[in-house]
This record gives sequence, C-alpha cells and structure tokens, in this order.
Amino acid sequence: MSFNFLEKIFGSNSYLGVDIGTTSIKVIELVKTKGLPFLRNYGFLESYGHLERPNNAIQTSSLKMLENETVELLKLMVRHTKSSSRNAIASLPSFSAFTTLLEMPLMPDGDTTKIMGFQAKQYIPLPISSVTIDWLRVGEKKNENGDKVQQILLVSVPNEIISKYKNIFKAAGLNLLALEIEGLSVARILTSGIKEDTLIVDIGSRSTSIYIAQDGNLKFSGQTDFAGGSLTQTISSGLNIRIRRAEDLKKMRGLTGTGGEYELSTLMMPILDVIINEVERVRNNFEKNYNEKITSVILSGGGANLLGIEKYFEGQMSLPVKIANSLSKISYPPEMEPIIKELNPYLTVALGLGVKQV
Ligand SMILES: Nc1ncnc2c1ncn2[C@@H]1O[C@H](COP(=O)(O)OP(=O)(O)OP(=O)(O)O)[C@@H](O)[C@H]1O
Ligand SMILES: [Mg+2]
Repeated sequence: MSFNFLEKIFGSNSYLGVDIGTTSIKVIELVKTKGLPFLRNYGFLESYGHLERPNNAIQTSSLKMLENETVELLKLMVRHTKSSSRNAIASLPSFSAFTTLLEMPLMPDGDTTKIMGFQAKQYIPLPISSVTIDWLRVGEKKNENGDKVQQILLVSVPNEIISKYKNIFKAAGLNLLALEIEGLSVARILTSGIKEDTLIVDIGSRSTSIYIAQDGNLKFSGQTDFAGGSLTQTISSGLNIRIRRAEDLKKMRGLTGTGGEYELSTLMMPILDVIINEVERVRNNFEKNYNEKITSVILSGGGANLLGIEKYFEGQMSLPVKIANSLSKISYPPEMEPIIKELNPYLTVALGLGVKQV
C-alpha cells in the first residue's frame, strides 16, 4: 500500500461526483472547506465510438449500460485524475426514472412517507415491488378551494437499474454513497438561491432534458431525443461529410458562421427549433397546471457550448437565456480560469452531485 499524504489532508471530506452520460463519463472531486467547496480534480472521457456506430454508446436509452466497460473507464479516470476520495455520488439519467408531481394536504413528513407507501402505485407504471420510490417536498401552494397543499415530487427507479449501478461502483473500487436522478443535481447546482421558477435545458448527446426548478428543487421535467447528436447528424448528411468531420465543424463554428459557412446554421436551426418547441410545450404545461410563470432559461450540457446558441434561444423564446454557471459557488485552482467558461455547462451534473455532500 502506498502512502498518500493527500489522503490525510482531503481523505474523508472530499467526494467524487460521477455523471455517466450516454457518450461520456465526467468525474469531479470536491473538497469540503470552511468557505466555498474546492474543486480539486475533474476529468472526462468521451467515447467517440458512438459517432460512427450508434449502438456503441456507454448508455443507450434502453439502459443497456455497458457494465464492464463502464467499470474500466471509471477505474481509469479515478487513477488519472489522482483523486484521493473513494466516496462517490452518482447520477441516474432522467429517462431511467419515472417522476410525477403530486399535491397532498400539509402533514408531517412521517405521515407523507406512510401515505406515499400506499398511494405511489397508482402513479407508477411498473409493479411497485420492482421499483424503489422516493419523494421530496418541492413546494407549497393554495389549491382551488383555497386550502394550502404541499407539492411532492415522486421519483421511482427500477431496482434492476439501482443494482446495476451498485455493481459498477463496487467493481470500480468506489463507495457509492448516494444515487440520484440527474435532474435533482442540475436543479441543486443551478437554482439554489433563485426564488423564481427557472427553466433548464440540458442538451446532451443523445437526449435533451428539460427541467423546471426553483431554489435548488426540481419541480417538473420533460425530455426529447433531439440533442447534440442530432445536430451533428444533420450537418453530416446535409454537407455529405463524415460524422467526425461534422462534429468538429459544429464545435468550431456553431451558429456564428457567415457567407459560405452560413449553411451550417441553416442546417442546425430546424433541429434547434424542434428542441425549442418541446421546451415551450413543457413550459406551457407547467405554467397552466401550476399557475406559475417561468422567468428565465438556463442552457446546460455539452450542447450549451454551441457558439451562438444563447442568442438563438433568446430570440425564439422571448425570455432571458443564460449559459449554466455551475462553478459560480465553487472555488478552483487559478490555472483553470481559461477553460472555466466551457467546463461550466459540461460539469453541471457532476458538480450538482458533489455539492450534495459538501
Ligand atoms: N463546443 C461545442 N459546440 C457544440 N456542441 C458541443 C460542444 N462541445 C460539446 N458539444 C456537444 O455536446 C454533446 C455532449 O454533451 P454531454 O457531455 O452533456 O452529453 P452526455 O451527458 O454524454 O449525453 P446525454 O446527456 O445525452 O446522456 C455532444 O453532442 C457534443 O457534440
Ligand atoms: Mg448528460
């Protein structure tokens, strides 16, 4: 056994946030300090295989996560980032969980738990014995009769998925402290302290998750399969170039091209419009059902790094739009400053997991 002096300093009060996406794994290590949590390490691995062969994603939407490969990738990352902590918090993709927002009379938490035990099954599309359920109080409001009710977010995850994650972390030599759906992490890191309802659009590779959150709590969610991968696809077929080249062009030029390059934007805009339509649908649903107004939009996920996307969303949505600033309440080594802007939307989920613990 080697002696690691960092372990002594950071050991028990640092945590790993692990975000296993469809095409990448992101790991951050956050250290608890007297002041802001400190980002000691971060790392990500992207699997490019998925670009050529769609079935080669780390995680497909049918959740056939490649167990062995994920274990190897995790081990590799912990080794490479020289993380001293073995305590991990991980996220589950939104599509692996079923979430519903319910209203119930105000009552002590213990009673809510009991009632959830009986009532959950009417809201969950799977046999209750095969899922793990959890609930969170996300707010209070007055119902039509003027009575105060509590809003409860009910989350259920198939047991099969939970045990898969437990196995992966165990095999990778990590101690899995908590597992949560990624929407909860995103809401925590991006909206803590924001009292207004905020719409968050997490544009990943295979899917875009749409969340409505307030003061760190997730209240509503939706999803579409149009995402970063669709943008690359459309460039590839539109310009008749290889997927890899299309991916590079997308990242390099985004929506900012002029003249001959304007073609890129023309190809991508219809896809962005499909995403925006879905976002608007979720927004309308929420505003109608809960009689509350969304006041701003935050773009997150790798797709939020598309040059010009902020302006485009703002133009189409008539709401203020910002790119996620996940590191705003986290301290980090000064050398990282030049890349912070790009890392911000990318590490949202992993950081949200980390701050759960520190
Ligand atoms: N600079 C950039 N410009 C445009 N797109 C980018 C840029 N950087 C990354 N992306 C895109 O972001 C996507 C990856 O984002 P992210 O890492 O959030 O996905 P993921 O979490 O692996 O996927 P998912 O959330 O669907 O499981 C890819 O489609 C990639 O092309
Ligand atoms: Mg993701």
